[in-house]
Amino acid sequence: MQIRHCDKTPQADSLLLLLTEEDCKDIPELDEGIREVVSVLISRKDFNGKKGSFLRVPMVEGSMYLSGLGKREKCTLSAIRESLASGLRAIGRKHGRSAFVPLSHLKGYDGLAFALGEASGLCGYSFDKYKTKSEDYEPFALEEVYSDISGDDEISAGLKLSKAQIFSREIANEPGCSVCPETMAQKARELAEKYGLECEVWDEERLRTEKAGGILAVGSGSKNPPRLIHLTYRPENPKKKVAFVGKGITFDSGGLNIKPDNFMLTMKGDKTGACNVLGIMKGVAELGLNVEVHGILSCAENMPSGSSYRPDDIITARNGKTIEINNTDAEGRLVLADGLCVASELKPDAIVDMATLTGACVVALGKHRAGLFSNDDGLAGEILASSSQRGEPYWRMPLEDEHISEKMKSPFADLVNSGERYGGAIFAALFLKEFVDDGIAWAHMDIAGVDFSDKEQGIYPKGATAFGVRTCLDWLMRL
Ligand code: BES
Ligand code: MN
Ligand code: ZN
Repeated sequence: MQIRHCDKTPQADSLLLLLTEEDCKDIPELDEGIREVVSVLISRKDFNGKKGSFLRVPMVEGSMYLSGLGKREKCTLSAIRESLASGLRAIGRKHGRSAFVPLSHLKGYDGLAFALGEASGLCGYSFDKYKTKSEDYEPFALEEVYSDISGDDEISAGLKLSKAQIFSREIANEPGCSVCPETMAQKARELAEKYGLECEVWDEERLRTEKAGGILAVGSGSKNPPRLIHLTYRPENPKKKVAFVGKGITFDSGGLNIKPDNFMLTMKGDKTGACNVLGIMKGVAELGLNVEVHGILSCAENMPSGSSYRPDDIITARNGKTIEINNTDAEGRLVLADGLCVASELKPDAIVDMATLTGACVVALGKHRAGLFSNDDGLAGEILASSSQRGEPYWRMPLEDEHISEKMKSPFADLVNSGERYGGAIFAALFLKEFVDDGIAWAHMDIAGVDFSDKEQGIYPKGATAFGVRTCLDWLMRL
């Protein structure tokens, strides 16, 4: 995707105009010919700028697309980003090769150039590689976007961010039959090769010598063995050191506590946390950030078999804590436990983990907002600020609850791995806390539900969203 600056209307085959309701009453400065068409459409009540309204007008050459932003005072940068992505997607699908997107009438929004770069990069992605293409299939055509706003650096940073997200989505969308823990390791090695990152992969044997009992237990039922993957981006004089830990369950059947049929669907997405960490590593390298970044992926496939770990088993995590298993479907916290220990040993300034961890979080917050837990108000505040700037919503959840902690006690081991149904997301977060060394600022993102979009909407295609990557990269850029 090429994005070019231009002052007057370029020779593009399509035009995308984002207009607020106010803009429809007082049409912004545009090329005379375009302005005339727009004013006719508005006076004929074909278009009024209401939020979500969309009109395609075939012209002699190419098409004009009008997209409504609603009332100016209610129009956020996120709404603009989404309209940009939907509009550009529609153009690319209708064989538009180049588009002109005037945006100078929307100046006043901080981050507009960034949003243009990001939306342009994201609009063309969809997971359709397995679909047989019909004879008249034409691939997404959009290649060039012109705009009248400046900010080349921001635009290119936005484009890089979009690549990081697409990288995560591409892997997350793959089904369990094509991506197993070793595939994740392969993807990590390729990434390391391309960007000069360090990459270490622990296979079963190494996991045993490293005492990663959580990952080993969860992976024991599958013929696809588990892996812990550690990527490192090491600039010369880093300002900070941070570690990301991702849950990489390449398929979550529930294990011996097998999930009922419809709950198992979409569980190929249970590796999204790890895919996001790969996306973040790519983004960090592309942007050349001055922060030492570690990406730790805890990967296993949770399957029932004769060699599976069982309810009642007592396992030992890397930091020596023993865990009595009372539900093999609460597996994410077990693989993360070892990942968080490895991260703690690096003594970073901050640890951020992300995981499609609990159905309870989806029940609490819905499918469009992730849960954020943190032991550090400063870190939580920074993440929430990045989240609101990038339009990726989180809600801070409590990380202290004596009644729920009480349920973590086991009669035979240090901990049990699951509690009662109520407060399930908090229980899981409190469990993870047991594996983070005291004194390290830590944030946990429960991205269950937000990892996957049922429909195409704004910057999201159907399927994997890479929710989390944008906020984390924005946070890193500000460190
Ligand atoms: N991967 C699931 C959580 C999940 C549920 C993600 C729905 C996305 C959508 C996780 O491993 C799981 O099975 N959690 C259980 C925990 C329970 C057994 C304590 C859950 O949420 O039901
Ligand atoms: Mn599970
Ligand atoms: Zn899971």
